[in-house]
Amino acid sequence: MPSLFDITKPFFHALDPETAHKVSIAAMKAGFAPKYEAVDDPKLKTTLWGRTFNNPIGLAAGFDKNAEVIAPMLNIGFGFVEVGTVTPKPQDGNPRPRVFRDVKSEAVINRMGFPNGGLEVFKTNLVKFLDKRPHPSGIIGINIGMNKTQKEPAKDYCRLIRALGPYADYFTINISSPNTPGLRNLQDPENLQELIEKVLEERKKSCGKEDPPPLLVKFAPDLDDNEQHAIANTVLKTDINGIIVTNTTLDRPDFLPKKFKSEQGGLSGKPLTQKSTDVIRNFYKHTGGKVPIIGIGGVSSGQDAYDKICAGASLVQLYSALVFHGPELVTQICRDLVTCLDHDGHKHLNEAIGSKA
Ligand code: FNR
Repeated sequence: MPSLFDITKPFFHALDPETAHKVSIAAMKAGFAPKYEAVDDPKLKTTLWGRTFNNPIGLAAGFDKNAEVIAPMLNIGFGFVEVGTVTPKPQDGNPRPRVFRDVKSEAVINRMGFPNGGLEVFKTNLVKFLDKRPHPSGIIGINIGMNKTQKEPAKDYCRLIRALGPYADYFTINISSPNTPGLRNLQDPENLQELIEKVLEERKKSCGKEDPPPLLVKFAPDLDDNEQHAIANTVLKTDINGIIVTNTTLDRPDFLPKKFKSEQGGLSGKPLTQKSTDVIRNFYKHTGGKVPIIGIGGVSSGQDAYDKICAGASLVQLYSALVFHGPELVTQICRDLVTCLDHDGHKHLNEAIGSKA
C-alpha cells in the first residue's frame, strides 16, 4: 500500500525545495504529522556522555533551524534531534532560490547561509517543547553558529552557550557550513584551539562543572589527510567531548547533471555517502577512537548507517534522504541496522563501532 509520503511526494517535488520544506514544517506544526512506533531494540539503545539514546539515528542540523518541530521528528522514530543552526541575531540568509535537489542522484545543494529567527525565537520554541508534558522522549542537541556580520566568532558561540545551556543535551559548534564567508577558517588548528578553549571556558562559567552539556564540533568533508590529522591532534589537546563529521561538500562529482552541478553551495545526500564515511574512518584512526564521533553524510539505508558505525561513528545523523524517501525511512533504517548487527554477530551496536576502521 502506498504511504502518505508516496501519495504526496509528486506535490512536494513539484514545489521549489525550500517551499516544500516550509509547507512540511507548517503541516507538522498544525498537527498533520505521521507517527511511527520507534524501533525499541536493546541492541540500538546506547549511552554516551551519560545520556541515553533510544536508538543511534538522529535528525541532522538544518532541518529544524528554529526548534519548531522537535516532537513530530521524535515521533517518526529518531533517537535524537539536532536543532539549529541558531545564531544570536535573526538573519535572512542568502537570496532565494538557495536549495536545489536532483531526484535521480538523490542529492541536494544548499547555500542557505543560516537563515533563522535568532536566539529569542529559538529559545521560546525550545522551552515550549520542554514545558509541554508529556513530550516524546529523545535527546536534543543544539547546533550553534555565528551571525554573518560577527567579526569575533567566539562571542556569538559563547553567547548562545550562555543563553541555551540549561536546555541542551549537547551543543554542536558549527564551523563547517560553506555558506558563511570565513566560517571554515575556524577549522584551522590554531583558530580551532582558541575557539574551543573560549567556548569551554564559557561552558564552565555558565553551565557549572557538574555534568555540563557535552560540546561537539562539526567538520567539513573537504579536508585533506594532513588537515584531518592536525585537527584530530587539536581535538585531543582540548576537552572537547565529540566531533560530528561531516557537513556538506564543495565537490561536484562528474555524474551530476550540468545545471544542478553549477549551483553554488554545499552538496549533500547520496554523492556524499562514501566520502563522509572515509572521513569518519580517518578521524577515528587519527584520534585513536578516543573521541566519540557522530557520523553523517548521505545516509539513506540501514547499511549506510552501519558502514558509518563500523568506520568509527557512535551515532549517525541524516537529513537529505528524508527529502527522497520520506519519514518512514527512520524506522526502516533502525530495523535494517539491527539486521546488519545480527548478520555480523554483534550483540550491541557498541561492538560494531570502529570494527572496520
Ligand atoms: C544542511 N546542513 C546543515 N548543517 C549544519 O550544521 N547547520 C545547518 O544549518 C545546516 N543546514 C542545512 C540545510 C540544508 C538544506 C541541508 C541539505 C543541509 C548539513 C546537514 O546537517 C548535514 O551535515 C549534511 O546535509 C550531510 O548529511 P545528509 O543531508 O547527506 O544526510
